[in-house]
Amino acid sequence: MDYNQVILITGGAGFIGSHVIRKMLIQYPDYLIVNLDKLTYAGNLNNLKDIENKPNYKFENIDINNEKDIQDLFEKYLFDGVIHLAAESHVDRSISNPGEFVKTNVVGTLNLLNVCRKNWVSFEDKCFYHISTDEVYGSLGETGFFHETTSYDPRSPYSASKASSDHLVRAYGHTYGLPIKISNCSNNYGSHQFPEKLIPLIINNIQNNKPLPIYGKGENVRDWLWVEDHANAIDLIFHKGRIGETYNIGGHNEWTNIDLVNLLCDIMDNRLSNPNGESRKLITYVKDRAGHDLRYAIDASKIQKELGFTPSLKFEEGLTNTVDWYLNNKKWLDNVTSGAYQNYYHQHYN
Ligand code: NAD
Ligand code: TYD
Repeated sequence: MDYNQVILITGGAGFIGSHVIRKMLIQYPDYLIVNLDKLTYAGNLNNLKDIENKPNYKFENIDINNEKDIQDLFEKYLFDGVIHLAAESHVDRSISNPGEFVKTNVVGTLNLLNVCRKNWVSFEDKCFYHISTDEVYGSLGETGFFHETTSYDPRSPYSASKASSDHLVRAYGHTYGLPIKISNCSNNYGSHQFPEKLIPLIINNIQNNKPLPIYGKGENVRDWLWVEDHANAIDLIFHKGRIGETYNIGGHNEWTNIDLVNLLCDIMDNRLSNPNGESRKLITYVKDRAGHDLRYAIDASKIQKELGFTPSLKFEEGLTNTVDWYLNNKKWLDNVTSGAYQNYYHQHYN
């Protein structure tokens, strides 16, 4: 079959990537979608079980640190676009192992940029789209928002590595004319998120009657966005966003960690028919994260005005759907929390 476009999505077996792949396959049946993923602890092909046999979907088990393998892939497929999500993504892991983050997030991104530059004979109608985070802007005080023009001020090894990769992507745009786009999104939540991140970790711990660790006083604020809304924004930017531009994506949905965990406890009590307040008893304040950013909040007016993006789901509804997904997919959770997860958990939380 002649495909309208051949798209490379990196990190497609991860949390956000699997939602993006599913969305693209449904929305664009005339595209060939190639998923490049190393399958680290965070990558899981079970996330894509329902679509793995589609004729216009291919999986390639490749590490972006291996430039030769990426080059071979570009000789196998004539890509029109790249949506780059592959990354080490967890702040706590970056604090204990920063080198891995520099390798994948910085050098891996550089490898992809080099291969695109070398193989795309003409840049016309091509697009290298880098998926990034609002954490590159640093930390806000009690007021204000991150705008696209906010100066970079990354403060964790994770955000520093993502900031470096953003800079490289922009530099390839300016220096070589590579057609690039970047988006910086706030915290995502939804199905298939690895339970090292706050929301699935709390759901998993309540199910297992384990303490719910709250860093510091629980006063840090995050702006939460449903992962499907992020996938919608990525689709809009990839197809309609302007080359060379940056778009901030957020949920207009700020919560302190403690308020969020209390809400999750109440939803879980309701779903598990626990007495009211039962799950809240598990809340345990623990040592704060080193360099813990106080507050993230996004001004998403540019993507709203230019591309018509607004989040579709109310947080309480999205969180309830998310709880239901984890309760209905206990096998998924059991699979990913066996083995290496136990070591990580004990090392990090003891
Ligand atoms: P994730 O950790 O769930 O998934 C990352 C994926 O990348 C996994 O499938 C993993 O196997 C793959 N990967 C890791 N190293 C690789 C390598 N060297 N080569 C090839 N594949 C590799 O992450 P996520 O939460 O889905 O985040 C995806 C992207 O979105 C990341 O770039 C992250 O920085 C960005 N982002 C995430 C959030 C969030 O809230 N989760 C918010 C904004 C931006
Ligand atoms: P996380 O999901 O790791 O996302 P990020 O650090 O990228 O924002 O954490 C969200 C918030 O929850 C953050 O302020 C740290 C806090 N947190 C806890 O209080 N306890 C935990 O066990 C975890 C994992 C996070």
